[in-house]
Amino acid sequence: MKGQPSVHHPESRLLGLDEDSRSVAAALERCAETADDNLTLARHYLFYRSTGAEAYEKPLPPLYVASAWWPSLRQPWPRGAFDLGLKVRFLFRCVLHYLPLLANRECGAICVYFAEHLVHYSAFAPRYWRFPFMADNDLQIGNTWTDPSHRGRGLAGFALEKILVLKRKPGRYFWYVVEAINRPSIRVVERAGFELAAEGSWHKPFGIKLFGSYVPGSGIGAHLS
Ligand SMILES: CC(C)(COP(=O)(O)OP(=O)(O)OC[C@H]1O[C@@H](n2cnc3c(N)ncnc32)[C@H](O)[C@@H]1OP(=O)(O)O)[C@@H](O)C(=O)NCCC(=O)NCCS
Repeated sequence: MKGQPSVHHPESRLLGLDEDSRSVAAALERCAETADDNLTLARHYLFYRSTGAEAYEKPLPPLYVASAWWPSLRQPWPRGAFDLGLKVRFLFRCVLHYLPLLANRECGAICVYFAEHLVHYSAFAPRYWRFPFMADNDLQIGNTWTDPSHRGRGLAGFALEKILVLKRKPGRYFWYVVEAINRPSIRVVERAGFELAAEGSWHKPFGIKLFGSYVPGSGIGAHLS
């Protein structure tokens, strides 16, 4: 909405409404600009990375139990997966793993349970077409979620550090791609010592989500070397 004329009627001056309407119009314009900015940010991604060298295992809060999930035909999604969408997302990882479409074999997830309920998962996977900028040995951490009633208790932070400790090795980078408006997620990754390596966007060839990939913006490729 930037650049659009503000709402202004000559009659309003006669009615003594000019200042009011102008301030309303200005407020509306500010809202529209904020909305525009949010839309722009929503399409904007931050590419964080870490070697995991400084990572350490954090304790879970009492009553939470963690376990690892690895792709397998017997367990194509984690125990306690509660909806079809979630099962499909993990099944997709199994397919990538078995076909094999991943740059290496190190795919999995850290899951956290509370009273047998799955309340958090953080998955990791090597390079495939969605993350073309990664090196052969690198891992990407994503598909991260905490049940809303268990947020802010350090579960995502716990899982992230766990993956780093479990999977770090010389020459490997861990990647974490997050929407620029996702403050809780950015807080989690920055708290774990990741550094911002690039900014970029999500490309969806022919409008097909399955073919989509995260692309670091031009001019910042040097950060990725
Ligand atoms: C992102 C997400 C996984 C974090 O899970 P979590 O278990 O609550 O994470 P943690 O408790 O380890 O840490 C959350 C941090 O974000 C902070 N936070 C929460 N809301 C925030 C906000 N609006 N702005 C800034 N920080 C915020 C918390 O205070 C906490 O930081 P602190 O420990 O320094 O106080 C969770 O919010 C979620 O599932 N979101 C929806 C799915 C999603 O966005 N996944 C990430 C995709 S990249």
